[in-house]
Amino acid sequence: MSPEATDEDVAAVVARVEGVGGRANVSKGLERTVIGLVGDITSFHHLNLRTLRGVADVHRISDPFKLVNRQHHPERSTVWVGRPGRQVPVGPGTFTLVAGPCAVETAAQTLEAARMARSAGATLLRGGAFKPRTSPYAFAGLGVPALRILADVGEATGLPVVTEVVDVRDVDVVAEHADMLQVGTRHMSDVGLLQAVGDAGLPVLLERGATATVEEWLMAAEHVAQRGNLDIVLCEGGIRTFESATRRTLDLSAVPVVQACSHLPVVVDPSHAVGRKELVVPLSRAAVAVGADGLVVDVHPDPETALCDGPQALVDTELRELAQAVRRFPPLVGRVPA
Ligand code: E4P
Repeated sequence: MSPEATDEDVAAVVARVEGVGGRANVSKGLERTVIGLVGDITSFHHLNLRTLRGVADVHRISDPFKLVNRQHHPERSTVWVGRPGRQVPVGPGTFTLVAGPCAVETAAQTLEAARMARSAGATLLRGGAFKPRTSPYAFAGLGVPALRILADVGEATGLPVVTEVVDVRDVDVVAEHADMLQVGTRHMSDVGLLQAVGDAGLPVLLERGATATVEEWLMAAEHVAQRGNLDIVLCEGGIRTFESATRRTLDLSAVPVVQACSHLPVVVDPSHAVGRKELVVPLSRAAVAVGADGLVVDVHPDPETALCDGPQALVDTELRELAQAVRRFPPLVGRVPA
């Protein structure tokens, strides 16, 4: 739909599609509304949708992912995160640093990590309240108390909060405390969760599953978009390969590959991908160079005591190096740090 289309214009399109037995999925982004038609294509041939008020264009999409496809939406999307008045963009032309502690442990640790993040140039705070762990004996996050800490620290530092939701039953409570919902690598293919975060009315950070192809990742995004939510940021966080030198292999080729076929922003999480802090800065530089729309990195005031992923958390010198990379490198590729 054109940016000027009204709700009535959208309803008229939906009614015409439903009139021939089709389904119309309405996805509202901040910039424009996209209506995806599902059903018997032959019944759509005579709809003459272009003649309806507010319709900007009509495209037939042959790829399995439709709403997130770039074919019908050639300009790349910007997703805005945060309350009106302090919204942070993620998308083309800008470069967004998302940082914070892998797990919220205490209010003091979270506040300190958030201050470190902010001084490095981060504009979004990411911290874990619900931690999906390999071992059932490992620290799985503080849950709801951590959400309260994150909301308080976000308020104190002015940073909108991104946090992971791992269970469909927690979506509402996480949405009450956060500005953006993350679906992590272990849950990328949980369709019920994708639908629930799609319904929650907040932007979504969708991490690539460790064994997911680019197409499977985009199909996961399509599940969110189908619920009417196009405010999706994709996050490359590494894939499982034969290489064991790093936790996962950071697939930087996915960034331009996805950007060529989807309008959604793509950020890179080198911390979780490789699990080793000495690789985070070089890979961050590489992510900027390859065209990523932002970075997601772990910081911790005292990584040796961290309850989750200490070896990948940045402090002091690494953080200063990262801050320098984030300030100096994006302008070289035509971006302004957010
Ligand atoms: C996810 O957010 C965790 O940081 C990470 O996957 C922990 O992995 P582990 O439970 O294998 O240590």
